[in-house]
Amino acid sequence: MTFDRSIKIAPSILAADFANFGAECEAIEAQGADWVHVDVMDGHFVPNISFGPTTCAAIRPHIKGIMDVHLMIAPVDPYIEAFANAGADFITAHVEAGAHIHRTLQAIRGAGAKAGVALNPGTPASAVEHLLDITDLVCVMTVNPGFGGQKFIDMSDKIKTLRAMIGDRPIHIEIDGGVDVNTAPTVAQAGADVLVAGSAVFRGGSVSNPGPYGDNIRAIREAATGVYV
Ligand code: DX5
Ligand code: ZN
Repeated sequence: MTFDRSIKIAPSILAADFANFGAECEAIEAQGADWVHVDVMDGHFVPNISFGPTTCAAIRPHIKGIMDVHLMIAPVDPYIEAFANAGADFITAHVEAGAHIHRTLQAIRGAGAKAGVALNPGTPASAVEHLLDITDLVCVMTVNPGFGGQKFIDMSDKIKTLRAMIGDRPIHIEIDGGVDVNTAPTVAQAGADVLVAGSAVFRGGSVSNPGPYGDNIRAIREAATGVYV
């Protein structure tokens, strides 16, 4: 089977109703989300706290497709097993989170999940060059991590460099932060295939009125691909 480099929209539940995660996950999938992006923050690696593996395990039964867990925590290694047991399909750790990211990626794969590596805006593409053989996804942050709703930082050059570096290896390029209908075309053209979007997906909708989620997802997909589905 050929590797799927088509555009995938991954709503971040950081912008969802925290009292209603299960129903929110079901709503965004019903409205066309490809993956569900789950942001874990520890108040140490980033200046905000979200939730941990217990919450991930609780929402897992409400997600039919891919659960994409983005760890903004340090250290990472002591918690990998817990997130894998919670049912994460992808576990992404930051290259800046510790001295031994290679070991971390090996441990993620060893725990049975796909291994992602994330780059803060200030970190160059070269930081992952020697990790690609043990990597399933590279996440390019287009905001400084910690909060939803921030202004997009253009990382097009970094995305293009990574796209060339990856070549035909089966590695996704994910973009996280400030993705909306205006910024999606830029990142898609640069070579990204997974677009995380929090505020731009959840804006205007709710569990009892999920239609706007679908409108927002279709609009972002159309902006990225030129095709409205
Ligand atoms: C930022 C998180 C993102 C963020 C995306 O720290 O990793 O996933 O919630 O939210 P928006 O799309 O609102 O920038
Ligand atoms: Zn994220």
